[in-house]
Amino acid sequence: MTRLARRSVLALASAAALSLSVPALAQSPIVIKFSHVVAQDTPKGKAADFFKQKAEELTKGRVKVEVYPNSTLYKDKEEMEALQLGAVQMLAPSLAKFGPLGAKEFELFDLPYLFDDYDQLHKVTNGPVGKSLFKKLESKGIIGLAYWDNGFKVMSANKPLRNPEDMKGLKMRIQSSNVLDAQMRAVGALPQKMAFSEVYQALQTGVVDGTENPPSNLYTQKMHEVQKYVTLSDHGYLGYAVIVNKKFWEGLPADIRKPLEDAMEQATRYANQIAKVENDQALEAVRKSGKSEIITLTPEQKKAWKKAMLKVHDQMADRIGKDLIQQVYKETGFDPKKF
Ligand code: LMR
Repeated sequence: MTRLARRSVLALASAAALSLSVPALAQSPIVIKFSHVVAQDTPKGKAADFFKQKAEELTKGRVKVEVYPNSTLYKDKEEMEALQLGAVQMLAPSLAKFGPLGAKEFELFDLPYLFDDYDQLHKVTNGPVGKSLFKKLESKGIIGLAYWDNGFKVMSANKPLRNPEDMKGLKMRIQSSNVLDAQMRAVGALPQKMAFSEVYQALQTGVVDGTENPPSNLYTQKMHEVQKYVTLSDHGYLGYAVIVNKKFWEGLPADIRKPLEDAMEQATRYANQIAKVENDQALEAVRKSGKSEIITLTPEQKKAWKKAMLKVHDQMADRIGKDLIQQVYKETGFDPKKF
């Protein structure tokens, strides 16, 4: 869709939202447009398709879910606007993309080396912090339904990245999070915020030198074909919040919302089951392709990365909230003094 066409869709949607209190309900069946930016063959892509199938089955066809993958409908920033205007009903943006919405506390998930594994992460998303973050979305006209995993990030570039010093001066594409900006600066890199759909071309043409993402995103966007080295740095987590337009969701009849909640619960279990395997397989596929060399860090090298990036926790404490960070440290057992 061209930029102009997207704009007019947004304009039409806002006009519709003004004239009808619950526009999507006027249709039969009720349509849920679910827009996302990654390939279908990724943890999020597969979970979105799974949700569609379950939602249509459990509502016996009274709801139709249209999934638009790979930024075919909207790019990162536009999809947030579209959700608030009611042009789409459901999204699953990464937790790093809530800052521009005014919910900067979500950037807590971007703090480098905060989580050692998925179990620690789930303690936070399934606990009071996860709930309190969703509460913050309501004043923006959004309801948070679930957290879906992707995985732990690798760092890629056209030079081998073994020590944090190797990052010096590299232009690195990041998502919209200020925590990620600080993380890249902590190792001397030059962060550039950019929509996901633009990353492959930016890497190919040298607009940026490198990037970070879990292997499933790297592989399905073919970034490994334009990056010579991939470092298994595991320096941060990338996952999603599945969100819906509040007015739409609350306007649904109870006998429709309940099966949709059940479908979401099942899709969440599925998403979180497949995420690690999908990323392991994607990494294997990158290895097999022979296009990128995969670098495993020694324990000493990994320690140096952690040491270099840890200061970001303090630097970003005011932005995220000191109490929130302390609460997460307590839930995960993270001890900043051990570095
Ligand atoms: C990115 O922009 O790198 C990711 O957030 C894409 C995604 O949705 O996984």
